Amino acid sequence: DWKMENILEEELEKIRRVVGPTAHAICALSGGVDSAVAAILVHKVLGDRLHCVFVDNGLLRLHEAEQVMDTFNNHLHLPVTKVDDSERVLAALKGLSDPEKKRKAIGAAFIDVFNNFAKGLEEKGGIKPSFLVQGTLYPDVIESCPPPGSKQKHSHTIKSHHNVGGLPKDLQFKLIEPLRELFKDEVRALGRLPAMNVPEPFLQRHPFPGPGLGVRVLGDVTQPDGLAVLRQVDAIFIQALKDGGLYDKIWQAFAVFLPVRSVGVQGDQRTHSYVVALRAVISSDGMTADWYPFQPDFLRAVSTRICNNVRLVNRVVYDVTSKPPGTIEWE
Ligand code: XMP
Repeated sequence: DWKMENILEEELEKIRRVVGPTAHAICALSGGVDSAVAAILVHKVLGDRLHCVFVDNGLLRLHEAEQVMDTFNNHLHLPVTKVDDSERVLAALKGLSDPEKKRKAIGAAFIDVFNNFAKGLEEKGGIKPSFLVQGTLYPDVIESCPPPGSKQKHSHTIKSHHNVGGLPKDLQFKLIEPLRELFKDEVRALGRLPAMNVPEPFLQRHPFPGPGLGVRVLGDVTQPDGLAVLRQVDAIFIQALKDGGLYDKIWQAFAVFLPVRSVGVQGDQRTHSYVVALRAVISSDGMTADWYPFQPDFLRAVSTRICNNVRLVNRVVYDVTSKPPGTIEWE
């Protein structure tokens, strides 16, 4: 693809020019496609002057931290430091149920860890990075901070997006955002170039929000069973999509844990257990979306598998709301 080859060359050249021969850069990898592709680009130019961190905030999916670290180490050959911040994040979330407060708390914890990582580089290695790499895409630019005077319907922030934009002012990084003008499908095309060599399954990963399962366990994330149940349900749903050849046709699919119990009957027993919602949408950039029209048999099989395998769930509902009026995530 000539267009992508050109974009790659231009971006590499720009990074070379802007960063120069000695400066260091820092990058937080989310486990998603965007930050990984951005980091690989920068790594090509900076090599070990790029310092990547991956934070396990306790809000990742089943086995996600291990899988993502394996991809970084063994397939992308990107050196990454993993930091486990889960205890602290969950402690900060205890008792919070307002979606914006939850997002802010998760974002603040992230900034803290990131800050410490940067300080550690300086204190232990005498390295003071002057650049920050971010996988910002064009739609993030528009949705998070519409340009002044823009005719966009939402002139305010719809949700406070979780990123490193809120870094303390004393940590003055210059930003490197090599994907700032691209849409998601273009980022995938870029990653697919032989020079980038990002494995296809990694490129096809659905977007995952920075606050992770924190915005998919509705209400208090630390309520009993929430994260554990959600992880099991989500894994069953995603596996079913992959088995059915549907995963790559869908922009994003996930489960939502509702803090609601309903009455059911399993065997001869009356149960009073959790309700989970499944969401799957098609979209080209996440700004608008439509729910995916599954075949009834698919939904029937997934629902049965979930209720048979996840002890505390006796009801599964499918979200048939487009964006707008719904957002993709429930919080
Ligand atoms: P919404 O729910 O606003 O989501 O329709 C649009 C897209 O953005 C993702 N999302 C986030 N991504 N940090 C991110 O990096 C966030 O805080 C965040 N919140 C939502 C969401 O998963 C969907 O793809």
